Amino acid sequence: MGERVLVTGGGGFLGRFTVEALRAAGHAVDAPRSRDYDLTRQTAVQAMMGDLRPHTVVHLAAACGGIQANVASPGRFLYENALMGLMVLEEARRVGVSRLVLISTTCAYPQDAPLPLNERDFWNGPPTGATGPYGMAKRLLHEACATYERQYGFQSVVLVPANLYGPGDHFDPAQSHVVPALIRRYVEAADTRAPSVVNWGSGRATREFLHVRDAAAGIVAAVDPARSPGVAPINLGTGRETSIAELTAAVARAAGFTGETLWDTTKPEGQPRRFLDVTRARDALGFEARVDLDAGLSETVSWFRENRP
Ligand SMILES: NC(=O)c1ccc[n+]([C@@H]2O[C@H](COP(=O)([O-])OP(=O)(O)OC[C@H]3O[C@@H](n4cnc5c(N)ncnc54)[C@H](OP(=O)(O)O)[C@@H]3O)[C@@H](O)[C@H]2O)c1
Repeated sequence: MGERVLVTGGGGFLGRFTVEALRAAGHAVDAPRSRDYDLTRQTAVQAMMGDLRPHTVVHLAAACGGIQANVASPGRFLYENALMGLMVLEEARRVGVSRLVLISTTCAYPQDAPLPLNERDFWNGPPTGATGPYGMAKRLLHEACATYERQYGFQSVVLVPANLYGPGDHFDPAQSHVVPALIRRYVEAADTRAPSVVNWGSGRATREFLHVRDAAAGIVAAVDPARSPGVAPINLGTGRETSIAELTAAVARAAGFTGETLWDTTKPEGQPRRFLDVTRARDALGFEARVDLDAGLSETVSWFRENRP
């Protein structure tokens, strides 16, 4: 029999896929919006838990975005993410929720953690750079989940997804991450038959990209009461390292852009390399990413062409 699951942030990019996947797995899902319950207000968090009485909470709601958004609002991102997470955890415990699934971020890793990023290295240095405050708030929530297990026996699962992409992503430049930003740029260049596109950096930096449908499947596995993955964080990804140049070439192909790609090496490109050790997700959740990057990018390009304003 399915669980009664409350998904915070269920109207967002990852949230919509998560709600759909949980329902398909037989769970009864509530996914209230911020206009129903503003989770930065304790009375609203209390009212939400009291009204909906969930067995399981998937906490996705967050103040988040791409680099630009993190540069513009580091204080708000730190404050709102820490506050919302702590209050959701506390009120979930008070009403007797049986499990909380917290969605964290690879931005919580220390800047110099060895590669592939392994969950045991979270506390070996501070998260830094533009996304440091956002990462630090999530890291506080890892600690809160572990502390609540120790003091109250409250069960949490902490998932750490790679960079997500897929249909329904945020394509507005003020909010977008690297994949939607590139898709928009290359689709527009293809449509206008631009001879070239200029990207920041050298293209040699690497990242890991997980399709949003795969991330939602990982969340469904973490909700499953038949599994007891424990409170230690679990990376959710493909384990595959992709350079920005490879990603860009794949986006250009998917968009039908035949011009030249140029690199502006005077511009920053963030951390040189990032990808995840995904052993724990396989062992604890039976999780394996399924969506191939080229297929996922083509699907996302099609979605963008059909849905752009
Ligand atoms: N996207 C990625 O690449 C990525 C990677 C790793 C981890 N994550 C994590 O995954 C989660 C979801 O990310 P996303 O990309 O799906 O973000 P998103 O589309 O911006 O969704 C975030 C959701 O949070 C809700 N929210 C924000 N402030 C709220 C408040 N005060 N009260 C209630 N709800 C509030 C919003 O609800 P309304 O729409 O109702 O206002 C929004 O739908 C986040 O925890 C993020 O840190 C994302």
